[in-house]
Order: sequence, then C-alpha cells, then structure tokens
Amino acid sequence: MALINKAIFPVAGLGTRFLPATKAQPKEMLPVVDKPLIQYAVEEAYAAGIRQMIFVNGRNKRAIPDHFDTAFELETELEAAGKKELLALVHSIKPDDMECIYIRQPKALGLGHAVLCAQCVVVNEPFAVLLADDLMVGKPPILKQMVDQFAEWQASILAVQEVPAEHTKRYGIVAGAPISDRLMDLTHMVEKPAPEDAPSRLGVAGRYILTPGVFREIAAQPRGVGGEIQLTDGIAALMRREKVFAYRYEGKRYDCGSKEGFLQANVELALAHPELGPSFREYLKALEI
Ligand code: UTP
Repeated sequence: MALINKAIFPVAGLGTRFLPATKAQPKEMLPVVDKPLIQYAVEEAYAAGIRQMIFVNGRNKRAIPDHFDTAFELETELEAAGKKELLALVHSIKPDDMECIYIRQPKALGLGHAVLCAQCVVVNEPFAVLLADDLMVGKPPILKQMVDQFAEWQASILAVQEVPAEHTKRYGIVAGAPISDRLMDLTHMVEKPAPEDAPSRLGVAGRYILTPGVFREIAAQPRGVGGEIQLTDGIAALMRREKVFAYRYEGKRYDCGSKEGFLQANVELALAHPELGPSFREYLKALEI
C-alpha cells in the first residue's frame, strides 16, 4: 500500500498567458515534443506510487478525459493494421491499475478553490497536488523524491527552488528554519510578494504533498490576491497548526504556462529524446543565431 495514493490535478485554469493557443483547448494538452503536459504529470505521479488520479476540470477541457479514455476507433484501426507498437503506446497512457476521477470546478475561483473541489474524493488522507503546467524533470522523479520525504516526516511538503529576486512576484515564497541541506521547517509563506517584501528567494513549484487538514483551512480563507481563493493562504494557515516542510528538489522545472518556458522545455526535451535528439542537435547547430 502506497503512502500517498491520490493525486489532484487542477486543470480548470483559463491559461490566459498562453492565448491564443488556449482559447479552445486546455493548456495542459499542449505537447512538449510528442506528449501533452498532463501526461508528463500523471506519469510522474504514477512513478511515485500513486494510482488514483483526480482531475479538477473546467469547461473546454474534454480533451483531458478523452486522452485518458479508450480511443475505440483509433485502437481498432491500429489493431487491424498490425501496428502493435503504436497500439501499445496508446494503451500505456492509462495503465490498468490506474483510476481516473473527474470533478468539475464550476468557476475558475483559484487554485485553492480547485483543490477544495476534490475534497469529497480525498476525504481524510494525505494527497499530492500536481500543476501540470510545471513540467518537472528529475531522477528520481520530483514527486517520488517528495513521497520519500513524506515517508520520513509524515507532514505536508512543498517543492521549492531558488528563484531570481526579480521573479518573486510569480511565486508563493516561503521562509523557515533549515533542517538539512534540502529540507526546511516553514514558518511563513506569502503569495507573489514584491522582491522587497519577499521573506526569501525560495519559490514554490507546482508539486505539493498535503495533509487533509488543509481543506478546512482553505475553506476558511477569504478571497486573496486577484479575487481568487489561494492555496498559499490555506497552507499558510495550516502552518499554524501542523508542521509544513519545504523540500528543495533535485531536478529542473519548466514553466510551461508561459510561452518562454514552454519553448525551453521543447528544445531541451527534444535534445534529450533518444530518436529525435541527435538530428535535432545537428539542426540547431546549423542555425545562424
Ligand atoms: P495559473 O496561475 O497558471 O492560472 O494556475 P491559469 O488560469 O491556468 O493560467 P494563466 O495565469 O491565466 O495563464 C495554476 C494551476 O491551477 C489551475 C490551473 O489549471 C493551473 O494548473 N487552476 C487555477 C484551476 O484549476 N482553477 C482555477 O480556478 C485556477
């Protein structure tokens, strides 16, 4: 039995930073090389031992349930054509022991609200939250590193990274007392502070392990920055009752909710791709830039 068996994927955001691409399709379905962002995040959760994937969905997001469902026509065609490798590739998107659960967030009222929408499925156990627009690459996968930390500490853990001072406005910023090289016992957390108000330069990335106590704290929050119900505010309140740790993960994050981060992810993952990598490298080298 895994320690953490449920992951929430809030995918109901509007993706305004990526318009026009996200006008009629979810940003989580944008592909990096050949795979949609949401599939990278689900694979990361699966690799961390999680088998129940809970998607908090909004309007215009049908492509996500379709991606993890049976594609009857496609599979029949591939089978008839004897394209076994492609068929196996399509089947591997949803392993048999993985369960997908869909919940609707009726209005995009913020990340905290999206997480709260999944409370009825999670009830009373610790769970993971993955923001699929943060593409995380690590060995072991970042969420697996965090699950291993959870096994030791049995408390909420937030993935953090050092961010440039001029970028603190893009992140939840944490502060606390270091416990080890990578772990910090948190005392406070603020959402998107200006550099002069930021308590540190440690910014929260889109991976969390949370104890169920956070639901009560989120529910008690008034609307915060931008009129939204912020997850950060709920976690900051949780910190007053329970221990919350920040974990400086080993690996790399691409902010694929922004055009620049998305392009960087495509270039770097294409270079690392076993089939495409060598010829793509030659192509880049030949560019006159
Ligand atoms: P973002 O802050 O990236 O917001 O949300 P967004 O709306 O998706 O994108 P921009 O800023 O307009 O370009 C962080 C995560 O929280 C989810 C998003 O889908 C994303 O994974 N989210 C956000 C929800 O599920 N519901 C919300 O109400 C807000």
